[in-house]
Amino acid sequence: MKIDAVIYDLDGVITDTAEYHFMAWKALADELHIPFDRSFNEQLKGLSRMDSLELILQQGNEPFSEEEKQLLAAKKNEHYQELIQKISPKDLLPGVESFMKEVKRAGIKTGLASASKNAQTVIERLQVTDLLDTVVDAAKVEKGKPDPEVFLTAADQLDVPPSHCVGIEDAGSGVQAIKSAGMYAVGVGSKEFLSQADWVIADTSQLTWDDLIQRIREQ
Ligand code: BG6
Ligand code: MG
Repeated sequence: MKIDAVIYDLDGVITDTAEYHFMAWKALADELHIPFDRSFNEQLKGLSRMDSLELILQQGNEPFSEEEKQLLAAKKNEHYQELIQKISPKDLLPGVESFMKEVKRAGIKTGLASASKNAQTVIERLQVTDLLDTVVDAAKVEKGKPDPEVFLTAADQLDVPPSHCVGIEDAGSGVQAIKSAGMYAVGVGSKEFLSQADWVIADTSQLTWDDLIQRIREQ
């Protein structure tokens, strides 16, 4: 396989905002007396704000109107936005900046494929905008992960065929999206949730350009 592009997920891959999403949903669920733990949270990773809310509300018994759901989602987002206020380049996950730089030095195109409407704010705070040739976020696509649209749109904007792209994800739904797009998938996290990925690493400190090339060669 020839690699011409690397497409990154944001939350949980470039920075630990996955933890902030968890905290904000947990606060909302507690307020609604809906059981919510880390294991349940795993299936929310990568899903859109409204899809996540739907899954949480299904755990409770109370019905909510469309208007109420919009208010609950807005409340979670307000809390999340407070939590991301303090993000700075120090919050890049271990090894991520050097990997992103290695990829650029190798002359490979790079893109972001995020399900978050807050993606632009986060990458600006992290100061990684220059390391990304294109940014595709929830505002630019119709279908959320596990649909491949966000990854396919990024590949299209980079003018690279999906079969020459590597996608990097921490979410099961995201790995599914990468595989449905016909790309090589790197999963960051537990094998239990990311079994569909071509290569699973426990955390981003294990992400190096040489290892990735090696893995792909051995395939
Ligand atoms: C994804 C996260 O990147 O963005 C999800 O993995 C989150 O947990 C989704 O729900 C939507 O984010 P936002 O910022 O638009 O609410
Ligand atoms: Mg993620």
